[in-house]
Amino acid sequence: MQVAATLPSPEPLFPGIYRLRFGIPEKLTPVSLRTTPISTDGLERLAPPPNCPLDVARIQATTSARGCLLEIPLAWDEELYGFGLQLKSHRQREQGKPGKKKMLRVNSDPIADTGDSHAPVPFYVSTRGYGILVDTARYATFYCGSAHPPVPPRRAKSDDPSTLEAVQSAEELYADIAGNSESGGSSRVHVEVPIAQGVDVYVFWGDDLREAVQRYNLFSGGGCLPARWGLGNWYRVRTNHTQTDVLNLAKRLRDQQMPCDVLGLEPGWQSQKYPCSFMWGKAFPDPQTMHTELAAQGYRSNLWTHIFAHPESPIYESLLPHSGSHTGFGGTIADLSIPEAREIFSRHHETTHVDIGASGYKLDECDNSDFIAHSWSFPEITTFPSGLDGEQMHSLVGRFYQETLHEIFERRNQRTYGLVRSAHALAAPQPFVLYSDLYDHADFIRGTVNMGFSGLLWTPELRHAANPEDLIRRLQSTVCSPQALINGWYIQSPPWEQWDTGLNNQGVLAPNRAEVEASCRKVLELRMRLIPYLYSAFARYWSEGLPPFRALVMDYPHDPVVGSIDNQYFMGDHLLVAPMLAGQTSRSIYLPAGRWHDFETGQAYDGEQTLNFAAPLEKIPLFVKSGALLPLAQPTLHVGEPGARKITVQIYGDGSLGAQLFEDDGETFDYRKGAFNWLTLTWDKTQIQTQSSPQRGSFPYEITNWQKMG
Ligand code: GAL
Repeated sequence: MQVAATLPSPEPLFPGIYRLRFGIPEKLTPVSLRTTPISTDGLERLAPPPNCPLDVARIQATTSARGCLLEIPLAWDEELYGFGLQLKSHRQREQGKPGKKKMLRVNSDPIADTGDSHAPVPFYVSTRGYGILVDTARYATFYCGSAHPPVPPRRAKSDDPSTLEAVQSAEELYADIAGNSESGGSSRVHVEVPIAQGVDVYVFWGDDLREAVQRYNLFSGGGCLPARWGLGNWYRVRTNHTQTDVLNLAKRLRDQQMPCDVLGLEPGWQSQKYPCSFMWGKAFPDPQTMHTELAAQGYRSNLWTHIFAHPESPIYESLLPHSGSHTGFGGTIADLSIPEAREIFSRHHETTHVDIGASGYKLDECDNSDFIAHSWSFPEITTFPSGLDGEQMHSLVGRFYQETLHEIFERRNQRTYGLVRSAHALAAPQPFVLYSDLYDHADFIRGTVNMGFSGLLWTPELRHAANPEDLIRRLQSTVCSPQALINGWYIQSPPWEQWDTGLNNQGVLAPNRAEVEASCRKVLELRMRLIPYLYSAFARYWSEGLPPFRALVMDYPHDPVVGSIDNQYFMGDHLLVAPMLAGQTSRSIYLPAGRWHDFETGQAYDGEQTLNFAAPLEKIPLFVKSGALLPLAQPTLHVGEPGARKITVQIYGDGSLGAQLFEDDGETFDYRKGAFNWLTLTWDKTQIQTQSSPQRGSFPYEITNWQKMG
């Protein structure tokens, strides 16, 4: 039997945010379990929103033995995006068409477009300028205008039965059934939340879709600001590397003049890895000295780990009373929603790793696997001491894990940046970037395009390659992403020395490796040059909730062409990236309204056109908005070198858009207390002018040069 839940009255939480409560929501949800406060400062900084574009009074809910069913109005012209990291699709509902069905289930092998994801998020946004968060950790199913009640039979316009069907074309009939016809039809997003007998729905809105996303991110706590070194290049070493191997590789990268800020250690550093002991193993006899030596060369370290605790781990016994009823990889799973469990977990990590110099973590395997031969994670039937079941824990464990380890760095007033394989709602403040074992380059780029709808960061990491072209194209994509990551966990030598895994591990280096290395160096150097610009984009993620990487539709929501574009994106406000895949010598690139310039040559192009753009192997199609000033650093080997603060400003068009540079110490959380400057750069036709605001602290960039780019 279905029961209509009481009709809620929308509760205004902040300007532009309503909460609607239907029935009796479950106790344990993404919002009820939050530990990061709302960024009220950030919300206050946004301009007051217009009236809510969604008639929230028309949102309805019913409950039944299946759980809670929401019906949310959907107009014929709305396009929908979101649901977390969706590697297989971008737009979830196209105007006037029945949209997709997405079941938001955490999964590490999202091989089909069903909603399975490392990081599903029950949040979607509409081109009408609002977003909906369904506050549940259940595997909710969203039917984006694709679930249709029966349509009443059409009546003949006259008594003559021959007019009955003839008046309706197949398209009209279909639009009518879908409830999507422009002539007044409307549809619904149906959301089925299993088990729950009620649910909270949060509505975020603004001037446009982008501002709705900003409000969601600020409600989450504001976007993360990574440690500045985190925006440099990353190299993860082979899993069986010893301490000596790591130091040799560190030296080799410096000898090769390959820019690198972070060396990542893979499972081999631990005495027990599957499950983990969280202790240094024999291959790392003196990790403290190793860290001192790495630091002297300007490197930070990042440690691979996962949540499953080995019986030999010193914290195993103390975690047991706080652990789930089932195991993963044979290890116990701490319920990190419980403060005591968090404390045990994070204190051990702090004293054993961070105290001796480790700079951050890669939180592996906190997703789940169903499609492979051996399911290694805990089952949904698991129960946890907090009352969470396995389904809810799968949704939330990635976020709990990030929060737990981030607490270490927050209490030390030391920023970090890391990796994680799962996330969910309200994850924007966590400085961790998603990654995957799947390796399709086009899917990886799609991840970079759509992560920004849901407060997530993602890296299209580079591992091996089919050939040098594939290697360079993939490297180009990763340096134009939130984390420039080479994951060499199964290769002995850097991939530019040998891209083929088998040959690499046999020690057979490629004859033309010097040439490939030189090409890769240029790509890594580009990343180093972009850091001041990118870092400033992240500062806006923190202060205004504005994602540093955005789909084109976020900035041009009313352009009918951009809705389907899943292979181009904005990096910051002024750079449009259109990555190339191996095998392409040219590709089509759509430029939205305005004027655009080739990043390297300055050549100008009119917007609102699709180019067939030729890009030889060493060229990444990057377009700069006309009027922008791009502040670029010198390409140093790591961000600690003085050149990283010496800026050349590239001027595009008339330079009238200027630039904003965020400067702070790059290492601590003092920016949260106001220890930062925004440096405004303007071009007065003869030179670059700078103005600092609010002139707190002194963290100088030096503008050493400028260059007019056409
Ligand atoms: C995988 C992970 C890889 C690598 C590997 C090491 O689960 O996705 O990036 O860390 O484990 O065993």
